Amino acid sequence: MNISKVVVIGSGTMGSGIAAHLCNANIPVVLLDLKTEIADKAKEKILKSRPPLLFSKDKIVSLKTGNIDDDFDNVSDADWIIEAVVERIDIKHNIYKKIFEKRKKGSIISSNTSTIPLKILSEKLKHEDKKDFCITHFFNPVRYMGLLEIVRDNLNDQNKIESLKNFCEKKLGKGVIICGDTPGFLGNRIGVYAMQVAMTKAIEMNLSIEEADAVFGRPMGIPKTGVFALYDLIGIDLMQDVLISFKKELSKEDKFQKVASDLPIIGKLVNTGYTGRKGKGGFYRMNKTNEKKVLEALDLNKNEYFPVKKIDLQIDKIDLLKLISRKDKYGEYAWAVISEIILYSSSLVPQITNEYNDIDEALRLGFNWSMGPFEMLDSIGLDIFFKRIDNIKGNKFLNDLKDKKLKNFYDQRQKYTEIDTLGKIKKSVIKLDKNDSAEIYRFKDFNIVEFKTKANALDYDSMDALKNATDKPLIIINESMQFSAGVNLNYVMDFIKNNDLRSVEKFIKHFQETCKHLKYSNNPVISAPSGLALGGGEEVLLQSNYVVTHTNIVMGLVETIVGLVPAGGGCKELLWRWTQTKEGKNNPDYAPIQVFNIIGYAKTASSPQEAKPLLFLDQNHDVIINRNELLPAARSLLENKENIPSPQECKFRLSGENVRKKMHKLLEELYNDKKILDHGMEVGKELAYVLSGGDTNLNKEISEDQMYKLELDSFMKLIETNKTQDRILYTLKTGKPLIN
Ligand code: NAI
Repeated sequence: MNISKVVVIGSGTMGSGIAAHLCNANIPVVLLDLKTEIADKAKEKILKSRPPLLFSKDKIVSLKTGNIDDDFDNVSDADWIIEAVVERIDIKHNIYKKIFEKRKKGSIISSNTSTIPLKILSEKLKHEDKKDFCITHFFNPVRYMGLLEIVRDNLNDQNKIESLKNFCEKKLGKGVIICGDTPGFLGNRIGVYAMQVAMTKAIEMNLSIEEADAVFGRPMGIPKTGVFALYDLIGIDLMQDVLISFKKELSKEDKFQKVASDLPIIGKLVNTGYTGRKGKGGFYRMNKTNEKKVLEALDLNKNEYFPVKKIDLQIDKIDLLKLISRKDKYGEYAWAVISEIILYSSSLVPQITNEYNDIDEALRLGFNWSMGPFEMLDSIGLDIFFKRIDNIKGNKFLNDLKDKKLKNFYDQRQKYTEIDTLGKIKKSVIKLDKNDSAEIYRFKDFNIVEFKTKANALDYDSMDALKNATDKPLIIINESMQFSAGVNLNYVMDFIKNNDLRSVEKFIKHFQETCKHLKYSNNPVISAPSGLALGGGEEVLLQSNYVVTHTNIVMGLVETIVGLVPAGGGCKELLWRWTQTKEGKNNPDYAPIQVFNIIGYAKTASSPQEAKPLLFLDQNHDVIINRNELLPAARSLLENKENIPSPQECKFRLSGENVRKKMHKLLEELYNDKKILDHGMEVGKELAYVLSGGDTNLNKEISEDQMYKLELDSFMKLIETNKTQDRILYTLKTGKPLIN
């Protein structure tokens, strides 16, 4: 099956997201709605979306818009027609009637419904049409969420379903899980159940919403939106509709019914316009008092909003066993929630799927959990779980495990795909070394380093792992969301607190040595990033020998945001790349000014397509749409080492004061326009000093080591200032930059 034209009907949140992602894959797509103006507005929204739905704005050329009356002929030569209109069966049935009258023979038609069963959607179709009709359930936002559930039944042409799966995996980069026609399929059935359990148990056990989100969040490997903030994000009214549908579709005996019952607070919020982030607020709201914005949380007992209380559980790593063993209300809550999720999920095998791993993957790809319920069970340990749970009557899956007296039952990850993913091969690798921040594996004839810290911030341990792993060709890759959000600034601030500047200097120097080691090691080093690669993370990429990157990345040297300059070789390496351009070779001041602007404004790229023009990536670095393919792509490069260029030693001739004056002029303009203040000026001047080569002129050659030294000296000068320290502390606390 060749898919070279797609029609998407319905240009709302999902239709426009799907259409945008088809554009990313350069597939011609026609987006239809009731009126062309609606689809045109959707197109505008796609172009303005943040985070961007498109890899780059020019991808929009693949999109045409229209309306379902004048432009319906587009259906007649489309290979795939996706219906993404409102969740109303009468409207959907009408559209299918029109589609099947017009569509070309052999084309595939799918619905994006999240709640209506396949058998009901297709009930009015002719028997032979049913073989080409299925559900393709994408998740929002389509570019970023890895999961696509394809729901089919035995009336479908199974070969066609396989080809569709293949297309969505290869061209759209989705993790495609084939599901049966059961309510909520896999992701929502367990994901929404989990949210409901987390919410009802929080109310029952009298936890505040901040407390519940603090437990049912990062400590459990769940995104920090937890449950209440996630409700706000999705829309409380939308969640209400989803629950109504679950109640209707599920049997009366299903345990879901109990946690799906109406909570008075939900109705009250929706009826007063508190539908979540899109409304006046929800469980949380941003309140403006005296021009100051304050984030407030609803007190469920008093029914009033109060400023959010930060809950510190003193947990820096996911350790479920430790969490559920805590003798406080947080431990009790965690156990109550986790055990219910495990009991429910396991009770549905094989009813909703034969493959328990698919449930885990649906939660990982569709809800960004770092492990699904069965991996949670595995990490708690079967013996401990069975010691605390006595009633598993009627649960075949758990009874089987208990009878077999197994210690470990989990085999491998990502069974839904044939690709040899990192998750899959981990079962067969040799674990060479492990410290608090990283692991080194040996697979075949190469090593893998996987970072393990929060947002994969880099510290001594992660750097040591990198250094120690270069005895073989090395791939730096990880399964968690971010490649690396930079050097661990908490670490740096701990030294600062003790007035220990020498240790800061030693640490940054160690980072420089690590990056240099990566660049010049005897064996090639390939980085395979996905997610954030910022600051030090980007510096690792810049000094790897090759990069194989996922399309969903955010790259940049953003140190100036916290009042610093890149000091792990980032200034040096980016400057070198710019000096190698045609303009850079003709004009010695071209590269320093370009890089001054890029780093000074802390420019980021939100895709490889945006990163290449900034030279964060090399033109020929590989771009991969399916994250699962990162490891095989890096592996095949290592097998053909001649494709990996040898490192280029940077030697600079810079004009020193000459170009610095130009940079200072740019800074003064910003200062006069009040775009930067005194400290911004100070940071800008340090950056200018580094990028101009310091005290030099065009007759002198500057080595890499001299550039490292310039970076380090400026870094040290800035970190000593109170203002930089304030900025770092503020960012560490809030995750946001301090404005002025
Ligand atoms: P939406 O309300 O944002 O957009 C629906 C669009 O359909 C609107 O632009 C509307 O003008 C258009 N429309 C209505 N009747 C039409 C007709 N007869 N012909 C052409 N267009 C028509 O809805 P949303 O959120 O995009 O949902 C679409 C589908 O995707 C639903 O089936 C929903 O259950 C499903 N879904 C929604 C998710 C979400 O997060 N919003 C996630 C996954 C699935």
